[in-house]
Amino acid sequence: MKDNVFSFPKGELQLLPTIWAENCVRGPKAIVGDGGMMTGCIIEGTVGQRCLLWRGAHVMYGANLGDNCMLGANVLLNTGAIVGNNVRVQQCSAISGTCVIHDNVSIGSCVNFCNAKDGKTRTVLLPIVVEEGVSIGAGANIIGGVTIGAGATIGAGAVVTKDVPAGETWVGNPARHIGSRL
Ligand SMILES: CC(C)(COP(=O)(O)OP(=O)(O)OC[C@H]1O[C@@H](n2cnc3c(N)ncnc32)[C@H](O)[C@@H]1OP(=O)(O)O)[C@@H](O)C(=O)NCCC(=O)NCCS
Repeated sequence: MKDNVFSFPKGELQLLPTIWAENCVRGPKAIVGDGGMMTGCIIEGTVGQRCLLWRGAHVMYGANLGDNCMLGANVLLNTGAIVGNNVRVQQCSAISGTCVIHDNVSIGSCVNFCNAKDGKTRTVLLPIVVEEGVSIGAGANIIGGVTIGAGATIGAGAVVTKDVPAGETWVGNPARHIGSRL
């Protein structure tokens, strides 16, 4: 190879630098991968490659977002939250700091992860695990301490108070099993 010719290792694609639009705020410790598009968001934590964050989305210090993710307007990713790859979160959802969201999860708008056992004192914060491929409908509330199993579906407006087994569909308040994916 000539000295002035650069070649990428086989199979690797070059990503363009992330585009920063509309007055984003980027904290001093923020880490952001290439290939993304940031519009009016606040990033203090870690964001992977090829992510799209809309206006008012906030990745707090100590929060981790994977690759190929989308955060809609005003989504909050709180300190300590871990989100995998290929995750879509629609506008105004709040992902609390004790959440672990696995790959390929889809979260509708206005979903709340209520991790404090007692919302008043907030002294005990419970973990919430959302396994791979789960779909959570708009306006659902996920109460602290639950695990939603791989491939499960949570209906719009559900209040999930118990563990949801993999592949099942749960709806209502409190959420109940209404079906399973084949
Ligand atoms: C949960 C969901 C996937 C179920 O879809 P489905 O498997 O096609 O189920 P059906 O529409 O056949 O409904 C089955 C039963 O559950 C009830 N049901 C469906 N969704 C419900 C919900 N979200 N809450 C309460 N009950 C619900 C239906 O009324 C029906 O009851 P019935 O048997 O007494 O008539 C769907 O209704 C839903 O809530 N999707 C989320 C949409 C959404 O929020 N998208 C994100 C946008 S940002």
